[in-house]
Amino acid sequence: MSPTTAVKPIKFKNPRAQHDFKGRSCSIVGLGSYVPERILTNADLEKTVDTSDEWITTRTGIRERRIAAENEFTSDIASKAALRAMSQAGVTGNQIDLIIVATITPDMLFPSTACLVQQKIGARRAAAFDLEAACSGFIYGLEIGQQFIMSRTYDTVLVIGAEKLSTIIDWSDRNTCVLFGDGGGAAVLQNRPNSHGLLTACMGADGGKAELLCMPGGGSRCPATTQSVANRLHYLRMDGKETFKHAVKAMLTAAQEAMRRCEIDITKIKCIIPHQANRRIIDAVGERLGARPEQLFVNLEKYGNTSAGSVAIALDEAVQSGRIQQGDLLLLIVFGAGLTWGAAVIEW
Ligand SMILES: CC(C)(COP(=O)(O)OP(=O)(O)OC[C@H]1O[C@@H](n2cnc3c(N)ncnc32)[C@H](O)[C@@H]1OP(=O)(O)O)[C@@H](O)C(=O)NCCC(=O)NCCS
Repeated sequence: MSPTTAVKPIKFKNPRAQHDFKGRSCSIVGLGSYVPERILTNADLEKTVDTSDEWITTRTGIRERRIAAENEFTSDIASKAALRAMSQAGVTGNQIDLIIVATITPDMLFPSTACLVQQKIGARRAAAFDLEAACSGFIYGLEIGQQFIMSRTYDTVLVIGAEKLSTIIDWSDRNTCVLFGDGGGAAVLQNRPNSHGLLTACMGADGGKAELLCMPGGGSRCPATTQSVANRLHYLRMDGKETFKHAVKAMLTAAQEAMRRCEIDITKIKCIIPHQANRRIIDAVGERLGARPEQLFVNLEKYGNTSAGSVAIALDEAVQSGRIQQGDLLLLIVFGAGLTWGAAVIEW
């Protein structure tokens, strides 16, 4: 995906993308991802909690996950992914107008991780903010970034999904600690009509189910106290079974909405890149969409669920692997705490 490669102009299938913005389009002109070096395998977890490789692989598909070093923070993970995406796009820090970092594990509650990334990547002109939509954050970021590009507010937007989830995992809780990992991915958005077009991105939410997946402590409702720490309120909590059910339903709805907007059906999609939380969720969504198994891109066996990093890393890996060719239609589908969900269609 070199920016210098001559490619044929894309005729956007999404009527909104084609007409509403007077020829303006939004393309993903660079992708990058980064995962920390340290690997934590299922066998490693067997030594610390009452679990087994067999249970984890059959229930989730996860075999290992990455864990960031003590002195490596979400802003570092985000910056490393961003610099790779910028290099691929042929964009320097000075050209970036806006940085959006999707994360639930910011370096600090404030200032935003996006501001810290701005410093680390030398994007001094850029406005910067964090967005919090949990595992759906990267698609939320793409849709927001797309609006700024289409409206001519900004020329270059950097969207990053990055997490250091290992800091909010209760490593003594086998129900959750086997599922998550650290990592991040980034995309550079521009109006470059002969590049990879973001045709549509849509988002959804249901705050009525907020308690299903949350971290109770640390906010204004339950600030840190000796008691809150003793009660382990500063760790992620999840009702796995209920979350599973809602994940399948919401991802299906989001995918159908994104395809409806583009006037396409699942047979036109070359590669589906779903949120990488659980192999069984992915298979159930694929089946209900009427997709063939070979349409699904899955890398969760290596990284577990990296929340906002998940589809960003998977998209980068799917492209790097050569599985996606120019002109292919991709469907990204996400789901997360909130509840939140979303989907995007990209014409590569
Ligand atoms: C978490 C999840 C893998 C659990 O799978 P499940 O098939 O629903 O398993 P259950 O919760 O029914 O638990 C079955 C048993 O395994 C046990 N168990 C849970 N975690 C275990 C582990 N790591 N190792 C061994 N046993 C475990 C449970 O305690 C339970 O035991 P019990 O029957 O004696 O009570 C699954 O519910 C899930 O993936 N949910 C969605 C999670 C998710 O994607 N979250 C992020 C959304 S962005």
